[in-house]
Amino acid sequence: MRRILYLVLANAVMLLMVYSFSASLSSCTKEGPTGANGQNGTDANSWCVMCHTTANMDAVQAEYVTSKHGIAATVAEGNRNTCAACHSNEGFNEVWRTGWDTTAVNNAIATPIGCPTCHGGVHLNFDTTQGFDYALQFTDPFRERFDSSTISNLHGTSYLCAKCHQARLPSPFPTSLLLTDSLKPSSYRYGTHYGVMANMLSGQGPFKFPGSLPYDNDQHTSVAQCADCHMAKANGTQSGGHTWRMKNDDGSEHLDGCKKCHPSATSFDINGKQTEIAALIKQLGDKLHAITVNGVTLLEVDNTGAYTGQIWPSTTTAVMIPNKYAAAMLNFQFAMRDKSNGVHNYKFTKALLQNTIDAI
Ligand code: HEC
Ligand code: HEC
Ligand code: HEC
Ligand code: HEC
Ligand code: HEC
Ligand code: HEC
Repeated sequence: MRRILYLVLANAVMLLMVYSFSASLSSCTKEGPTGANGQNGTDANSWCVMCHTTANMDAVQAEYVTSKHGIAATVAEGNRNTCAACHSNEGFNEVWRTGWDTTAVNNAIATPIGCPTCHGGVHLNFDTTQGFDYALQFTDPFRERFDSSTISNLHGTSYLCAKCHQARLPSPFPTSLLLTDSLKPSSYRYGTHYGVMANMLSGQGPFKFPGSLPYDNDQHTSVAQCADCHMAKANGTQSGGHTWRMKNDDGSEHLDGCKKCHPSATSFDINGKQTEIAALIKQLGDKLHAITVNGVTLLEVDNTGAYTGQIWPSTTTAVMIPNKYAAAMLNFQFAMRDKSNGVHNYKFTKALLQNTIDAI
């Protein structure tokens, strides 16, 4: 049914394009979509070309080619069925439809994430009272991989990003948080994988050790979309827009998105919250690193002494560890691999870190 609707709409849109094209030829103005409250509609030409000009599409393309989304390395393992869903165009196009976590088979020809990965849909309406329609593929709540709960407290276009930027299911999974139960991590790579941002923004996934701080979400969960911050007006091809980067080439911060809601912001570290969260991440890391189980020290350090997020060096043979330490280790990965030092969801990140530190 929905597909038929798509086809009907696609045809209608094509007609509208032909219509507006001939309109421009005869240089008379035709009406576009009806305005709100029975006001006159916008002229279809000026409406469509807010986005559909060669100059704008070229600018978006120029931003896009600098993003890691489109580079060949992103797709390097995109043909494996356990990776394709988030690392290739074909994989994503398959799994958002099937609802599976993996593609059915390994895909020999996987191409990088590109415009049609996110925008493969058609315009469903031109009613601006409902916000802009960007012809996106996927904007629905979904069952997350980590603990099978449904992520449904985000809004707008965030679900599109969240479908890929979510933690993967570690094996084995610590079902109880008891010190008496133990498990053997599958390998030194045991954990959440890298893109945990959606779990942190929604406050779903990490292990909620009982503790002194409540697991409340900050207001970003309900008012800020990923795109509000990451796709604020582009600063050339350095940050914002379709680069998705929050920092410019010289490391300075792109604050345009923040300023929409925090007009006086001068850095991401609003009220010192990033500094506070960075210190808590370090504190949890230090506490875990001081733990030795069955002759193995938890948390690998690199040659500068910084935590990599890996449970132990690749040369270490896996040992049994208590569930509680495995869960604390996974929480450390959530906070560290979120990469925002609490900007995504300050209150939740603080409760997660403090309660985990207190519990181990
Ligand atoms: C649920 C979606 C998802 C799946 C499945 C997935 N990845 Fe990723 N992966 C991501 C995201 C999102 C990032 C980027 C995170 C970031 O930029 O912080 C990423 C980043 C990476 C990176 C770069 C890490 C770095 O430090 O820059 C590598 C390498 C990688 N993934 C390999 C794999 C491999 C191999 C598989 C399959 C075994 C896989 N991924 C499966 C979502 C996924
Ligand atoms: C990772 C997903 C993703 C990819 C890949 C992507 N887009 Fe977008 N695009 C979005 C989202 C989300 C928005 C809505 C942004 C907002 O809410 O401000 C958008 C908005 C747009 C807009 C309207 C805003 C503007 O800047 O004019 C255009 C045009 C556009 N995309 C074109 C493209 C083209 C062309 C490509 C390929 C070069 C592309 N997009 C690749 C997610 C994506
Ligand atoms: C807010 C930005 C925006 C506006 C306004 C907009 N579009 Fe789009 N449109 C997009 C994006 C983004 C895509 C997907 C990117 C791509 O395919 O290059 C798209 C895709 C399309 C497509 C191909 C997919 C489909 O729906 O069949 C057509 C045709 C199209 N637009 C027509 C129009 C027409 C006609 C108007 C004016 C009535 C319009 N658009 C207004 C952003 C916009
Ligand atoms: C189809 C899966 C997918 C979707 C959808 C997706 N991403 Fe990504 N994203 C990735 C992968 C994979 C990487 C990492 C590539 C690497 O490191 O090799 C990444 C990297 C990033 C980065 C680091 C960019 C850089 O160039 O350093 C940011 C920021 C980001 N994504 C934000 C977003 C936002 C915001 C959205 C939604 C508008 C989004 N992503 C949608 C898979 C996805
Ligand atoms: C309230 C603003 C805000 C929202 C909403 C937001 N982010 Fe972020 N994000 C940031 C900031 C700021 C940073 C970087 C912090 C720093 O570098 O100090 C960041 C970092 C990241 C990174 C690491 C970037 C890199 O260069 O490696 C990724 C990937 C990312 N966010 C993805 C997402 C996704 C996906 C969503 C939605 C599920 C999202 N973000 C929502 C502000 C936001
Ligand atoms: C769509 C609106 C919106 C955007 C965009 C936004 N924020 Fe927020 N932010 C809020 C609201 C609302 C709060 C809760 C305010 C409060 O509790 O005082 C908040 C709270 C915060 C907090 C916690 C502050 C505290 O004292 O508890 C930090 C840190 C923060 N934002 C950083 C950022 C950064 C950095 C950006 C840009 C990368 C950003 N925000 C973008 C709306 C937004």
